[in-house]
Amino acid sequence: MEKFYATTAIDYVNGAPHIGHAYEKILSDVIFRHYTQRCDNTFMLTGTDEHGIKIQKTAAARNITPKQLCDENAQQFKNAWKALDFDYSHFIRTTDEQHVKVVQHIFKKLTEQNDIYKNSYTGLYCSGCEAFLNEKDLTEDGLCPDHLKKPDIVSEENYFFKLTKYKDAIAKHIKQNPDFIVPAFRANEVLNQLENIEDISVSRAKSNVDWSIDVLDDSEQGVYVWIDALSNYITAIGYDTENPAEQFNTLWPVDVHIIGKDILKFHSIYWIGILMALNLPLPKHIFAHGWITIDETKMSKSLGNVISPTGVLESFNLDKPDALRYYMATAAPCGKDGNYSDIDFKEKVNAHLANSMGNLLNRTLSMLVKYFDGDIKQEFKIKSELSDKALKIVKEVMHHFDYFEIQEAAQKIMELVDDTNKFITDSEPWTLAKNSETDKCGQVLTTVLDVMCVITSLIYPYCPNIASDMASQLKYDLKSTKLQDITTDNIKIGHLIDKESIKPVFLRLDSELADKTKALKV
Ligand code: ME8
Ligand code: MG
Repeated sequence: MEKFYATTAIDYVNGAPHIGHAYEKILSDVIFRHYTQRCDNTFMLTGTDEHGIKIQKTAAARNITPKQLCDENAQQFKNAWKALDFDYSHFIRTTDEQHVKVVQHIFKKLTEQNDIYKNSYTGLYCSGCEAFLNEKDLTEDGLCPDHLKKPDIVSEENYFFKLTKYKDAIAKHIKQNPDFIVPAFRANEVLNQLENIEDISVSRAKSNVDWSIDVLDDSEQGVYVWIDALSNYITAIGYDTENPAEQFNTLWPVDVHIIGKDILKFHSIYWIGILMALNLPLPKHIFAHGWITIDETKMSKSLGNVISPTGVLESFNLDKPDALRYYMATAAPCGKDGNYSDIDFKEKVNAHLANSMGNLLNRTLSMLVKYFDGDIKQEFKIKSELSDKALKIVKEVMHHFDYFEIQEAAQKIMELVDDTNKFITDSEPWTLAKNSETDKCGQVLTTVLDVMCVITSLIYPYCPNIASDMASQLKYDLKSTKLQDITTDNIKIGHLIDKESIKPVFLRLDSELADKTKALKV
């Protein structure tokens, strides 16, 4: 693998980030960190989507400028991602000068080559969706099904993108590339949507939406959401209609766009049409994740059940995000919906990270100190079935990541943890020590510690801080070990650790804390 380029959706900035936004960014960071363990040239893009009527209205209601609102909220997103250890390479804001300039050039180029044309249009516009709705999509009472608000009848001259021209080519691409849309079960959905596709409006009258990128040579029109938002994936890495930067040439096409299922249509139809019109290579994969509910209920401001990711960290008194990362990343099978609940969160991470994984390291190192003063001897190094199993799991985990099966990969890692625990229980190193079967006892402990290094590498994308603590106690070179080169000969012969250096890598979440009334609300 020469390079890996991944992107998240760019979030709307009319509020603070919630756990749904966090779910996507955690998944993305887990995927990204995994690929940094497979290749050297990696790039992860995230950012904020800042134009549009919603921002304009929210800002007006607060008596501040749209830019002030965007600055405030973009900072909140950055703070949240920092708290979650989301290790992105670049944060793009659609108000960035360079982005604005390139979007204008893209629009101009598409107009000049007749992929964009002007037409008058009357439609039902929902400002909540920032989109025109079809009559047939409305509820019986004529409301937007998502926002339960009556859409406005908007009549204006707009520019349109000739999406219909690319319809057949898009369908062909989806059919010929079964792993283009992940999970595969969503591809049919997209093909159905494609059947009824029309040319799409790509501008709004400035008189209606002022907070938008100006269309060059037409002072009355502003670029409307999709060309502005979707182009971030190329403007951020140096695309230009005239002379793309070297970085763009090495990173594009993107390896994966990571997005929610609600915006799959825009990515697998609109964006693909735009890229075809620009004559650019297409993304390798579009991964649509499912949605997160709270206690099995859809999150909404009106229900007051919106949860903030930093709120969760605070309420459980966590100074590191690993537990929340692990819980969210494993919340759902690939592409399916998942759920957040305080109780479930606590139980899962206590069981997996503290009881199974953390204790395993702790008691093995403690036995090494007790029986061998923390020393590893040459005679302790042997091949075992457990080490074979560990290498097999590494391959399986990599395979799951090839298909963005993040929960499924974690299940494999926990299977290895469980097998390793079982290996200790079955081998009874404490009995071997008592019976003076010294080498055998050392071999059991060393096998486990060698496998613990493999587990450290595998758990790293999910729990980077825990992995780093494990690596330092194991004196394991986590940072420079590539997954494809991993072995089960990791622990060095000689003195490994003293009693004082053995520390639990994850403390159980205090059971009382989860029930406390918390300031979780956004
Ligand atoms: O759609 N569970 O922005 P956005 C899981 N700006 N994911 C969720 C979620 C939930 N409850 N709620 C939202 C936009 N998301 C556009 C994207 S990309 C060029 C433009 C996900 O702030 C959602 O699916 O409404 C999307 O991928 C991301 O959060 C941003 O949503
Ligand atoms: Mg949305």
